[in-house]
This record gives sequence, structure tokens and C-alpha cells, in this order.
Amino acid sequence: MVCLGNICRSPLAKGILQSKLNSNIAIIDSAGTASYHTGNLPDIRSIKVASKNLIDISNQRARKFIIKDFDNFDVIFVMDEENYINIRSLSRNQSDLSKVKMILNEINPNLNESVPDPYYGGDQGFENVFKILDEACTIIAQKL
Ligand code: 4NP
Repeated sequence: MVCLGNICRSPLAKGILQSKLNSNIAIIDSAGTASYHTGNLPDIRSIKVASKNLIDISNQRARKFIIKDFDNFDVIFVMDEENYINIRSLSRNQSDLSKVKMILNEINPNLNESVPDPYYGGDQGFENVFKILDEACTIIAQKL
């Protein structure tokens, strides 16, 4: 699960998908395309909205996406178009490229919709992001 800062959207996506899966079925991780929050906890507003939904994401720490992630993961879900462009630009070959998917295409295939960045908004934005990611992760979990 990849977003820009790895403190708002992708930690939620990781926590939500994990909550829908048996722990041994897949390894889920999250990362950001930028490094300015490396080592930080998720944004308190993401921790709160997750907690309200009985999901604990407070054990996550932000990290930057690394090339090795292309080797370590079968699918790389990105939250928005900017992440999509940035992660694809790091790909080394067709196999890497084919792993990068926009997460909301799980709900509406081929529309390339973005999960809105809630960082500069209020709590409502985080509620909205939770709802959207919950829907996408339900579909991903069903496929797994
Ligand atoms: P995220 O949100 O990409 O969902 O983690 C953001 C977090 C931090 C910043 C931007 C977006 N920032 O500019 O610091």
C-alpha cells in the first residue's frame, strides 16, 4: 500500500486489509513515495478513525518505498495518480510495472480514481478515506 507520506492513507489501507484477512494468507505492508515522515507514527487522525473501527495502526512507522519492494511484493497498490507515476518511474522491467495498480480500480475498474489526500483537511476527510479504503479492501480480500 503506497501513498505520498505513508502517514495518512496507506497505513489505513494496510490496517484495513489486514483486518479482513487471516494473518498467514498474505504479507501486507505500506510505504510512501516521499521520505519526510520516515520513522513517524501514522497521523493521529488516521489512528483515531482506525481505532473507531476497532483497527489498531499505532504500531506502524512510516518508511519510503524502496526498489526491493518490487521483489518482495506481488502487488503494489497506490492511492493516487501521482503515486502511480512515481512508483512506475522506479520500475526496472515489465514485471515491476505490471505490479503497480491504483487501488480504487478495484471498485471501479479502469477509471483510475484517486483516494483523496486528507492531510490538509479535517476529520471528515479521514472518515471518507476510511470508508473508501474499506470498500476497496473488502474486494481485495475477497479475491485473495
Ligand atoms: P499521505 O498524506 O500521503 O496519505 O500519508 C500526506 C501526508 C503528509 C504530507 C502530504 C500528504 N505532507 O505534505 O507532509
